[in-house]
Parts: sequence; C-alpha cells; structure tokens
Amino acid sequence: MQAKARQVAVAVAGAGYWGTNLIRNFAACTKTRLVAVCDIDGARLSKACAAYPSVEPVQEFESLLRRSDVEAVAIATPVRTHAPLGLAALDAGKHVLLEKPLADSVGGAQALVNAARQNHLKLMVDHTFIFGAPVRRMKTLLDSGEIGELYFIDSVRINLGLFQHDVNVVWDLAPHDLSIIDHLLGRLPASVSACGACHTDRQHAIEDVAHLNLDFGDGLMASCHVNWLSPVKIRHFIVGGNKKSLVYNDLEPAEKLKVYDRGITISQDEDARRGVLVSYRTGDVWSPHLEQSEPLRSLVRHFAECIRDDRTPLTDGEAGLRVVRILDAAQRSIKAQGERMTL
Ligand SMILES: NC(=O)c1ccc[n+]([C@@H]2O[C@H](COP(=O)([O-])OP(=O)(O)OC[C@H]3O[C@@H](n4cnc5c(N)ncnc54)[C@H](O)[C@@H]3O)[C@@H](O)[C@H]2O)c1
Repeated sequence: MQAKARQVAVAVAGAGYWGTNLIRNFAACTKTRLVAVCDIDGARLSKACAAYPSVEPVQEFESLLRRSDVEAVAIATPVRTHAPLGLAALDAGKHVLLEKPLADSVGGAQALVNAARQNHLKLMVDHTFIFGAPVRRMKTLLDSGEIGELYFIDSVRINLGLFQHDVNVVWDLAPHDLSIIDHLLGRLPASVSACGACHTDRQHAIEDVAHLNLDFGDGLMASCHVNWLSPVKIRHFIVGGNKKSLVYNDLEPAEKLKVYDRGITISQDEDARRGVLVSYRTGDVWSPHLEQSEPLRSLVRHFAECIRDDRTPLTDGEAGLRVVRILDAAQRSIKAQGERMTL
C-alpha cells in the first residue's frame, strides 16, 4: 500500500512509434501508475491500450488535463506540437516529460522553461541516450581526467531513416548527438556552422542529409553527420583526448564502448623536433563492462523520482533549451549556406 502511495499518476499523449515505448515503460515502472493514454488517432489509441485494461483511452488532450488524478503528462507527439501541448499541460498544473527536441523553436523552448519555473513544476526532456550505460560511463571517464584535454568529438548517425514530415533530419536525429555532447561537456559551443541538402522533399525544403560543426572556441571541435538516406546504419561517437580516446558504437551488441590508449606524442627535444615532430603511441584498448538495461526504463524512473523527491531532472528544460539553441543556429546556418552562427 505504501509503495502504491508513492506512485506518480502519469498519462502519455501520442501513441505512435516512440509513445508506445513510453507507455510500456510507464506501465512497468514501480514508481509510476499509468492512468490514461491519449491519441487523436482512434485506431492507434485502441491498439496501444489493448494490453492495459486499467488504462483509459482518451482522444482529446484537453480532457487529460482536466483529470485531477493525472499528476504528470509525457508527450510523444510530432515536434511542432511539443510547445503548445507542453505549455497547456504546465498551465493545468501537470509535470511534463517532453520528447526530444524540447520544442521546434528557441522561443517555444524558453516559454516551456519559464512556465515550469513559474508553476513550480518539473519539466524534463527525453534525451534518451543520457540514461544509457555507454554515455554514463563516458561521462565518468571524462570527469575523472583519464581522457585528458579534449581535441575533437566526431559523431555519425546515418541510416535509411523514418521520414518526419514536420522537421528535417537535423531536428530529428541531431538532438541525440547534441544532447550527449551537452551532457559530456556541460557547456554550449561558441559557434555553429552547418550544411544540408534536400533530396526527397524539395518542395517543403526538408533537409535529409546534414553536417554540423560546433566550435567550442578553445581548440575543441565537434562534428555531427546526420542522414536519412544512407544505405547502411552507422552510430559512431568518437571523443579524442590528449591522453586517451573513446569510441562508442551503439550498434555493437556487447562492447559498445572502447577506450583507446592511442595517440601522438610531440617531442620536446629540440634536435628531434627538427626531424620527426611526432611519434605514435599505441597502447591498450579495453572495453568497460556496461550494465545491460533499456535507457528509457531509467529515464521514466528518474522522472518519477524527481517529482516525488522535488529534484531537478538530469535532462531538465534548460538542457532541452540548450540543444534547441544549437539546432536553431544550425538551421539558420544551413539556410545561409554554411555561415557560422555565434551562440
Ligand atoms: N527519444 C527517442 O529516441 C525518440 C525516437 C523516436 C521519436 N522520438 C520523438 O517522439 C515524438 C513522436 O515521434 P514518433 O516517431 O513516435 O511519431 P508518430 O507519428 O509515430 O507518433 C505521433 C503520434 O502522436 C499523435 N498525435 C498527434 N497530435 C496529437 C495531439 N494533439 N494529441 C494527441 N496525439 C497526437 C499521432 O496521432 C501519432 O499517433 C517526436 O517528438 C520524436 O522526435 C523520440
């Protein structure tokens, strides 16, 4: 009975591809009680609720908000609806978990952050990878100093993608890489430039291939390649440091993260420097043991704990806003043929 009393009553809005994953995890989590699911599409709604007889299917988002037994709403609807639905939920006194990206504009994301603050409610964004064991381990290794001074971050997230109709490939895929970078570094880049091209939906100018370059102003550069047209699926994330480097391959079934004790050593010897300036260091490669668990499982649990214990979520509205600011700068740069945008 006591455990039940601590459960947070949650409703999920949007029962599509990703919403069904949220529904499954909220239904399974011992810290939450899934009370309702909402989707404007009746057929999707019935299918999503079929396995959960105690969950009420609701077609109107507003009727969810009128329910006094709903404490928190998780929103997995198309990106353009994130800000209006999120704001309506916060205004109705509900804690909100929003899908990535937090909003489709800086103004929308800022309005959500402000509304959560004014109403003393939790606002969290689903930056899923932050709750996965590989990113958690990368963060520990970076913070311990084992990787040393960072030289570069290089990420590739390409495959034949699920086309989104309201956002381009940057707003769809890059939030994953940008949220990982934001979590690892804890700071915004000084400037961003990006190039992109439209092949499939030229009429609506929806870019399906894009390259982003983030300059942190101190020699550290990050590049992200996102692509919905690649015949092969690649999920590589490399962090290069002056001591060691990290290679994260999310498609590896077992050894997703590898630590390379490899790099260059610059000679301090004046005579040697006139000849060979650098020598190569090839040390060990090892793969840390990582807990095998679904990131979304930890994420929904964390959301419930933040509400119950009045804690700030790891991926709070501010984190979502920082990612949206980078996406917005990248979008403006694409439209200006790669012009560098300061943040
Ligand atoms: N975190 C991740 O790894 C991840 C992965 C995929 C998608 N997403 C995000 O999830 C969100 C949804 O993406 P998807 O691929 O599931 O899309 P989808 O089209 O499969 O599902 C969206 C659902 O929202 C419903 N909907 C639309 N407007 C609504 C409204 N006003 N009220 C209630 N329901 C409404 C639609 O009927 C549909 O069923 C997007 O924001 C996307 O960026 C996140």
